[in-house]
Amino acid sequence: MSTMASSKLLCLSFFLVVVAAASPMLLKFHDFSNSVWGEIRSKMQTVNPWLLALGSLLLGYVLWKLWRILFLPLEMKRQLHETGYLSDGKRPLKEIANEIRKRRQCGDIPPVYPNGWFHVLASRELAVGEVKYVSMLGEQLAVFRGTDGKAHIVNAYCPHLGANLGIGGKVVGNCLQCPFHGWTFRGEDGKCIKIPYSDKVPDFAKTKAWPCLEVNCTIYMWYHAEGTEPTWTPDIIDEIKSGSWTYRGCTQHSINAHIEEVPENGSDITHLNHLHTSPVITGADLRYNFLDWCQVVAHHSWSAQWEPLEDEKHVGQLQLTHSFVLFGYKIPSLDFHVTARQAGPGLVFLKFKSIFGDGIFLHSLTPKEPLLQTMCHHIYASWTMPTFLAKLLLYVEAIQVERDIMIWNHKTYLSSPLLVKEDQLIKKHRRWYSQFFSENSPRLSMKKETLDW
Ligand code: FES
Ligand SMILES: [Fe+2]
Repeated sequence: MSTMASSKLLCLSFFLVVVAAASPMLLKFHDFSNSVWGEIRSKMQTVNPWLLALGSLLLGYVLWKLWRILFLPLEMKRQLHETGYLSDGKRPLKEIANEIRKRRQCGDIPPVYPNGWFHVLASRELAVGEVKYVSMLGEQLAVFRGTDGKAHIVNAYCPHLGANLGIGGKVVGNCLQCPFHGWTFRGEDGKCIKIPYSDKVPDFAKTKAWPCLEVNCTIYMWYHAEGTEPTWTPDIIDEIKSGSWTYRGCTQHSINAHIEEVPENGSDITHLNHLHTSPVITGADLRYNFLDWCQVVAHHSWSAQWEPLEDEKHVGQLQLTHSFVLFGYKIPSLDFHVTARQAGPGLVFLKFKSIFGDGIFLHSLTPKEPLLQTMCHHIYASWTMPTFLAKLLLYVEAIQVERDIMIWNHKTYLSSPLLVKEDQLIKKHRRWYSQFFSENSPRLSMKKETLDW
């Protein structure tokens, strides 16, 4: 029997013993509550029935909201213009974000799409028999789940006459049927297995099937500019697989920056005790974060170390300790230890330990356009951690990340930054990250790509 099952059994037995011991008291309470309830009922008969109905509705609404806050996962999606842009009080933020994207000096950036595994969808976003159109890494993709439950990714544009298989395509068994003339492609290898109006299916009738892996309740896709097969796999989190860590919510942000800016943040140790110190109640707007009272009254304090792993070339590891300091004293119960494994260019697995329980943030970064990234954080936690607490953690993490986003959305990329001794890990990180680019990795072409959002 697993540890979790035995601890649940123990809790249940304890509960039954407590109920048995308290049963005489419960009987007395029953008599008492009957008399109170009778009194309430007689009083309610004198209240206007409309008022009573309104009150019940209100109470129902409040209880429903409370139930959602306490027990349902947090789902927070922020659009690009909703984070990191400042209003001028005249124009909509969307217009301001687009203008900044256009006039931005992006700098001497590395290639825009690195090689590796990328998050495509969360498993729960793709039902059996469902197909979705996804645009990422400069590719147009149709993602579908066959009737055997397996997810597949193929090129969205049908090789016959170019219809989009992700828009109106139909899942037939473990194949995808084009909505235009009905050609049917196998998810596994992209081979066309049926042309409804032709006896023969020629060998050249096929589309590209992308390497696809579904673990950690996530659908991942392998991208390589040279067409190389996967050389590593994303971490498999056993606690998610076994169900001992359960899903408590996710946040999604759009970032207007080169993809490397984000993981590089993990090696930029010195920014932690500057940008991320003020309490989260001061929000994510950097104009209000650097307040003098924070250092005296309350602030976050960080210590961290990043290093590439020798035996797993694609992994860089960050050890991070967070403390909360109130009037100069660290509050031990708010200490938070994180081990973050950066696996490849776009995935980070952040395992945390706290006095409330353990868990993980699945961080993913997927390029939507050369300078537009979708960043997701999914949190899974042990049963000991109440859902509202896991949601609070996720929310606090989002506020901290939004401070970074305000920087990323406006900064330029410096290929030769001015680094002092304490910044040396950034250089090390850039050397490590360069392994994810190859000869044909796409570079930014202003002519080809639109910067309108
Ligand atoms: S375009 Fe797909 S079958 Fe014709
Ligand atoms: Fe940061």
